[in-house]
Amino acid sequence: MPLLVWNEAMKLGIKRIDDQHQRWIALMNRLHEGIQHGLDKKLLDEAMTGMLDYTRTHFVDEEQLLRDYQYPGYAEHKKEHDGFIVRLHELQKEQENRDKNSWLLVLDVVKAMSKWLFDHIEYADRQFAPFLKEKGVQ
Ligand code: FEO
Repeated sequence: MPLLVWNEAMKLGIKRIDDQHQRWIALMNRLHEGIQHGLDKKLLDEAMTGMLDYTRTHFVDEEQLLRDYQYPGYAEHKKEHDGFIVRLHELQKEQENRDKNSWLLVLDVVKAMSKWLFDHIEYADRQFAPFLKEKGVQ
């Protein structure tokens, strides 16, 4: 069962961001399912790297959009992004030299990250949506 299920209510109304969030959630679910189903270490490492890479890609794109339109909450928003990237890096480093069974130990961490991701979209990202829409971003 996926950790997070994308639904229409999660849409912010900015297509490029909504599409990225949907993909982001899919990658988080893939990582979670990989751990639950005991995928081999190589596949788990790939899922983790994919999650980290895509998170970085999404943050860079979203931050550029916020800068382009001079969103007043930009600095605070970027701080949230940076904190999450640090957590992902720490988790990746912790797992690098472990066997596949040790991934089970991070299941709770992945669940917590998934909750962060949901809360971030719902509370932090949702705050900039009206601002950008007012500027004509769709
Ligand atoms: Fe969509 Fe601020 O991450």
